[in-house]
Amino acid sequence: MENLILSFALSILLLNSFALSLNSLTDKHALISFKNSITSDPYDIFSTNWSQNTSVCNWIGVSCGLKHRRVTALNLSGYDLIGTVAPHLGNLTFLRYLDISSNSFMGILPFELSKLRRLKVMNVGINSFTGEIPTWLGSLPQLEELYLYSNSFLGWLPIDMCNNIPNIEILLLSWNQFEGQIPPNIRKCTRLEILSLSHNNFSGNIPREIGRLSFLTELYLGYNNGFRGGVPPEMGNLSRLEILNIDNASLTGTIPSSVFNMSSLTISSFSYNSLSGNIPTFLNLPELENLYLDDNKFTGISSQL
Ligand SMILES: *[C@@H]1O[C@H](CO)[C@@H](O)[C@H](O)[C@H]1NC(C)=O
Ligand SMILES: *[C@@H]1O[C@H](CO)[C@@H](O)[C@H](O)[C@H]1NC(C)=O
Ligand SMILES: *[C@@H]1O[C@H](CO)[C@@H](O)[C@H](O)[C@H]1NC(C)=O
Ligand SMILES: *[C@@H]1O[C@H](CO)[C@@H](O)[C@H](O)[C@H]1NC(C)=O
Ligand SMILES: *[C@@H]1O[C@H](CO)[C@@H](O)[C@H](O)[C@H]1NC(C)=O
Ligand SMILES: *[C@@H]1O[C@H](CO)[C@@H](O)[C@H](O)[C@H]1NC(C)=O
Ligand SMILES: *[C@@H]1O[C@H](CO)[C@@H](O)[C@H](O)[C@H]1NC(C)=O
Ligand SMILES: *[C@@H]1O[C@H](CO)[C@@H](O)[C@H](O)[C@H]1NC(C)=O
Repeated sequence: MENLILSFALSILLLNSFALSLNSLTDKHALISFKNSITSDPYDIFSTNWSQNTSVCNWIGVSCGLKHRRVTALNLSGYDLIGTVAPHLGNLTFLRYLDISSNSFMGILPFELSKLRRLKVMNVGINSFTGEIPTWLGSLPQLEELYLYSNSFLGWLPIDMCNNIPNIEILLLSWNQFEGQIPPNIRKCTRLEILSLSHNNFSGNIPREIGRLSFLTELYLGYNNGFRGGVPPEMGNLSRLEILNIDNASLTGTIPSSVFNMSSLTISSFSYNSLSGNIPTFLNLPELENLYLDDNKFTGISSQL
């Protein structure tokens, strides 16, 4: 009986370590497929370092969990790589940090990346990705930081964008070709601290719902030429906001007095718009260091806030 229990325990142990090495093999297979989709590697990191006969955990840019030895981070930022992203990357199911920024990756972000359920940080900024913002981003419940800036992503943001990324804190979508309205659903990204939508082709009104993002410290909406209307007064509710930039965004109307009454605002810029009305002489902006209002249609200075 004891023997039976022992051999049973032993076989479970063997089965476990078999499963473990199989899973590590999946990671290795995924990384090799990833490598094979890269056509140019000027620093030769793959040929000299990603050697088949060493553990992937020793490969440059790869980090593994201490116990399970599964790949938890892939950071290949700034290696001037050219290529596409292999769908196999989606098999790195323990991945929490993915950073392939500052390379020349092109094509789309493969749907298979939706399998990266543990992903907290995804940085694909400064590449040549195209296509729409992937709707499957909504299936990454742990996502805290998403960097898509400086690519050629096109199209509208999904109208239900924030329903399924409740933990997002940093969202950088600047320097792309996004168009259409900023979805009012943005208010459901309640933990946002940094939001950048600048240098795109957004249009319509700046949604008043942005004023609900009470954790925001930095907001960049400038260099979008299709906006109509003005600065929503609700923006004055952003009591933690330190940086606000809405340059060159076709803004009209007056700057609401609530915006001259923000306790944390340090840098604020509304240059190159068609804003009008009076600028109050008394600003209740205790932290303000820089305020840019040049190239507008302001008529004068008012002594009332
Ligand atoms: C690959 O690079 C890492 C980090 O620089 C290093 O620790 C490792 O020994 C290298 N492996 C090979 C096979 O060159
Ligand atoms: C690993 O493989 C390379 C060739 O790919 C070989 O030069 C090297 O000696 C091997 N290292 C070990 C530890 O087997
Ligand atoms: C990746 O490496 C770069 C350079 O070392 C670093 O700045 C960046 O924070 C890293 N990314 C992640 C997600 O850890
Ligand atoms: C990994 O992903 C690819 C493509 O998404 C798939 O074909 C392959 O079967 C997956 N599984 C393993 C164990 O590599
Ligand atoms: C921006 O959108 C307008 C329509 O709203 C379109 O006519 C224009 O071509 C777009 N510009 C770019 C650079 O996509
Ligand atoms: C937000 O701002 C608007 C207009 O400035 C105000 O009416 C509203 O009560 C504010 N909401 C909150 C939650 O502070
Ligand atoms: C404002 O945007 C327009 C259209 O994109 C551009 O032509 C112009 O150079 C921009 N102005 C400034 C000062 O950046
Ligand atoms: C300025 O802010 C204070 C406190 O946040 C608030 O009580 C007051 O109504 C605000 N005034 C204006 C003009 O928004």
